Amino acid sequence: MRSGEQSLRLAGLGTTIFQEMSALATATGSINLGQGFPDTDGPVEVADAAVQAIRSGRNQYAPGPGVPELRAAVAEHQRRWYGLSYDPDTEVAVTTGATEAIAAALLGLVDPGDEVVALEPYYDSYAACIAFAGGVRVPVTLRPPQFALDVDALRRAITPRTRLILLNTPHNPTGAVLSLEELSAVARLAVEHDLAVVSDEVYEHMAFEDDRPHVPIATLPGMRERTLTISSAGKTFSFTGWKVGWATGPQHLVGAMLGVKQFLTYTSGAPFQPAVAVGLALPDAYFHGLRDDLRAKRDLLCAGLVDLGFEVFVPRGTYFVTTDVRPLGWDDGMAFCRALPELAGVVAIPHQVFYDDVDAGRPLVRWAFCKQPAVLETALSRMKGPFSSRHRTNPPFAG
Ligand SMILES: Cc1ncc(COP(=O)(O)O)c(C=O)c1O
Repeated sequence: MRSGEQSLRLAGLGTTIFQEMSALATATGSINLGQGFPDTDGPVEVADAAVQAIRSGRNQYAPGPGVPELRAAVAEHQRRWYGLSYDPDTEVAVTTGATEAIAAALLGLVDPGDEVVALEPYYDSYAACIAFAGGVRVPVTLRPPQFALDVDALRRAITPRTRLILLNTPHNPTGAVLSLEELSAVARLAVEHDLAVVSDEVYEHMAFEDDRPHVPIATLPGMRERTLTISSAGKTFSFTGWKVGWATGPQHLVGAMLGVKQFLTYTSGAPFQPAVAVGLALPDAYFHGLRDDLRAKRDLLCAGLVDLGFEVFVPRGTYFVTTDVRPLGWDDGMAFCRALPELAGVVAIPHQVFYDDVDAGRPLVRWAFCKQPAVLETALSRMKGPFSSRHRTNPPFAG
């Protein structure tokens, strides 16, 4: 009798940390700096275009790979920002968020027993989707303070069983932006071992430093033909609830992904697709404004966390900042995050759930700064009481 049992595929995956922490935020009335969603809407012309699409009857199934105008807009975006050229009909696909693109790519490319090399800490759906595909994840750990890529560790991680490298830059949760040198090293190894690369670039427009721009690995020599690049309207246009993502790459990689997508969701939110096409055609000023606004919020939150006594690893990209909680007298980020809502009315996310090597992430905590400045300021002021210097030497819940 197995009617009440979950499949073995789900074993060990548990509930995502975001569900646990967001429930805690609601139960305690805390400010949620855990989950990465902006608290303001994206561009009004994009929202208007969605309303217009709904009102004008674009409400039935879209073509499986996406509406033609969005596929054309994605191709044009890749050309305009990176000089990459893709055929909108065969080398671009629209997905239900980047999440579905990741899932479908892994299910379409990884066979049971294949190894997938990925940067650790991982965005949490990576581990789940590698497991669903029957693959084996092989982590390469990014370590503070720089969270730089250890190229020797990457080289050691590659074996004859490696199927692909799963990359993420700008990187969640560390905020690292891979340098050209790091990306070139990944590219050389991918070419040498004839590996595919799935590159999650959902934070592509959130690289803050001029001397460390976002570089799609598909632009490097020998990489266009082996890279599937993934991005998301949720991040670039602050419409996370629309769940519109896309992937670009050579036909064989896009086709493998679509082969799975057609049976997962078949197609994705029809009226949102033309609206995202409008967003992708916005002038450069929109994309630079998004980055500059988030840079200012990063600086606000980082300065406040430094004042409170955290060790702060200022991110070069994404909308997350990582801190080490040990200077405040805690040694376990999970215990810290479970106590924080009661203690200060704020929610953050412990890094350790994103690691196979839990010890590597144990004292680290991630905070989202894609919130209005007044919200960030309130969160910081709420933490002032509990994290005064008196408590710093004698923490109430030291983990
Ligand atoms: C690295 C990374 N990839 C993918 C996603 C998911 O994107 P979407 O909401 O478009 O599914 C996120 C969202 O937080 C993310 O941080």
